[in-house]
Amino acid sequence: MAAEQRAIAEWEGFLFVNLSLEPEPFEQAFAPLIGRISRWGAADLRRGARIEYSVAANWKLIVENYSECYHCPLIHPELSALSPWRSGRNDLSSGPFLGGYMDLNHTSMTVDGSSGRAPLPGLPAEDVGRVYYYAIFPNLLLSLHPDYVMAHILRPDGPGRTLVGCEWYFHPDTLAATDFSPDDAVQFWDTTNRQDWHVCELSQRGVSSRGYTPGPYAQAEGLLWEFDQEYLRALVDG
Ligand SMILES: [Fe+2]
Repeated sequence: MAAEQRAIAEWEGFLFVNLSLEPEPFEQAFAPLIGRISRWGAADLRRGARIEYSVAANWKLIVENYSECYHCPLIHPELSALSPWRSGRNDLSSGPFLGGYMDLNHTSMTVDGSSGRAPLPGLPAEDVGRVYYYAIFPNLLLSLHPDYVMAHILRPDGPGRTLVGCEWYFHPDTLAATDFSPDDAVQFWDTTNRQDWHVCELSQRGVSSRGYTPGPYAQAEGLLWEFDQEYLRALVDG
C-alpha cells in the first residue's frame, strides 16, 4: 500500500491522519485499540450536541487532568456522587493509549444520575454500570458511557491555550425520538468540564511561574507518567 494510502484511517467513526512521510500502518499503530470498544457501536452513533471551549492551558495539562481522578472529590462533587473516584481499574496502562473504567452507581452520568435513554445495544451488563475513559495519543479523549459516547478533541492554540471541542454521540433511534434531549448529559459534563478547565488554567499559571519546580509524580499519577513518556518518545521519533 502506498504511503499516502496509509496516512489516513477510520476507527470507530473517527478519522486519523498520520503526517509522517512513511506512516506506520494504522492496524499496527492502533493494535491495542482495534476491536476494544466495538460494543459501543460508536461509528453508528450520531452527534447530539457540541460545545467548544477555549482553555488557557497547554494541551498536555488537559490530557494529564483527564488521566487521573484523585482531583475528583475536591472539584467534582456532582461526578463523585455518581462514580466513586477509587473505583474501577486501568486496562490500558502504557503506550499511546491510556485509560480504563470507573464504576457508575447510577443509571447514567447526567445531572440527576438517571436517563430515559436505553443503554446502547450490544453492551454487556457489566458495562452498563461503568464509564470508560481513554486518552488516545495525542489529542482525543474518549469517554464511553452506557447510553452515550463523549469525545474531547484538543487543538493547541499556542503553548498556553487549547481549543477543546466536546461532542456527545447518541444512538440514531434515541436521537429520532420526539422527546429527545441531550441536555441532561450535556449540562452534567459542561459543569464538570468547566471545573476541569479552571484547575488546568491554575496549573498553567503554576508551571509558567519562574518559581515553578517540577515535583515527583503522585502514586495516583501512573498514567500521567506514561503519557509524559509517550510524549518524549514522540519528540525523539518525530
Ligand atoms: Fe476532572
